[in-house]
Amino acid sequence: MRLKDKVAIITGAGQGIGAAYARKFCEVGAKVVVADINQEKAEAVVKKVTEKGHEALAIMTDVSDEASTQALVHTVVERYGRIDILVNNAAIFATIETKPMEEISVEEWDGLMGVNLRGLFLCCKAILPQMKAQKQGKIINVSSATVFMGKPYYIHYVTSKAGVIGFTRALAREVGDWNIQVNCLTPGYTETEIPRGTTTSEQKKAIIGHQCIKRIGTPEDLFGIMVFLASDESDFMSGQTVNVDGGDNLH
Ligand SMILES: NC(=O)c1ccc[n+]([C@@H]2O[C@H](COP(=O)([O-])OP(=O)(O)OC[C@H]3O[C@@H](n4cnc5c(N)ncnc54)[C@H](O)[C@@H]3O)[C@@H](O)[C@H]2O)c1
Repeated sequence: MRLKDKVAIITGAGQGIGAAYARKFCEVGAKVVVADINQEKAEAVVKKVTEKGHEALAIMTDVSDEASTQALVHTVVERYGRIDILVNNAAIFATIETKPMEEISVEEWDGLMGVNLRGLFLCCKAILPQMKAQKQGKIINVSSATVFMGKPYYIHYVTSKAGVIGFTRALAREVGDWNIQVNCLTPGYTETEIPRGTTTSEQKKAIIGHQCIKRIGTPEDLFGIMVFLASDESDFMSGQTVNVDGGDNLH
């Protein structure tokens, strides 16, 4: 029960890795807020965990919208009185079509940045007054190992995830005096229930062949580091980026 009674908001937890984090956090004792733009999926995740006796709440949230992120924080504080953990996991990801950069439209670029970077900014902006008042908080930002490999044909995504690392470092310096730790996780290729076209089966084979640990990554492979970064065990660690990709990139 390493997160016993901690209140955790996980954005983009309606599916994929975020939903897996939500299930894991519940198992280790947290009260989990599933904040996703897809309310139906968020509620399905909450239904599953509450059926097992855990405490969870679905709140429809568009992380790219300031009023929506403010409303999220307001609702959580009203319900639980505090917020211990924010996992900035929501992103435009599984829906991306890979293409050369000249073919990425300005609308696609701006739309992706609006979620992957403005969303991160807005969620932190909304939550910081509460964490500062508590003099305690954990912020975990989800980047990607594609930043280290410079994966081509979705340059808007890779650029946004590089921004997440810079944001983490700068925010960690700003909020350390309030005992708020800000860290970043860069997962490698991680298979979920959601099919996606950004990696072909040949590319997948090549990735596995290049990893030190030669098997496909799953959300479960990220649980150890995520729970550690959310727990008191990481209280002396801030501004860091931890890479978990089976040793594909040696960061
Ligand atoms: N799966 C991988 O291989 C992999 C690798 C590296 C990093 N990541 C990162 O991990 C995170 C989760 O990945 P995933 O595979 O589960 O992605 P996914 O695309 O399957 O899920 C993203 C979730 O974010 C939600 N979302 C999208 N826009 C939103 C918005 N405006 N407001 C709120 N929620 C919104 C979606 O509804 C969805 O539930 C992402 O940040 C992704 O970039 C994934």
